Amino acid sequence: AFTVKISSTGDEFVVAEDQTISQVLEDNGVFLPVSCEEGVCGTCMTDVLDGIPDHRDVFLTDKEHQEGKLIMACCSRAKTKTLTLDL
Ligand code: FES
Repeated sequence: AFTVKISSTGDEFVVAEDQTISQVLEDNGVFLPVSCEEGVCGTCMTDVLDGIPDHRDVFLTDKEHQEGKLIMACCSRAKTKTLTLDL
C-alpha cells in the first residue's frame, strides 16, 4: 500500500494493493476523469509533485516514465511511500 496526497487540500488517502489511485480518489470525492482504466488512453494523466511513480501504463513515453513528473492514475502506482499529486 502507499499514500496519495492531494496538493490542493493536503488530504491523504491510502491506496491498498487491490485498489487503484483513481478508485481511491473517486471513493473520496476527488474528481479525476477516467476512460479506459487500462493505461492506454491518456484521460487520467495527472502531474506528480513529489514521490516516484511505479508506471503501469503504455501511454507515456519512456522518457516521461523516467522523468516521473506525470502519472496515469487509473493503473500506475508508487515506488515511494507517498505520492503527491497536483489535484
Ligand atoms: Fe485511460 Fe487512465 S483512463 S489511461
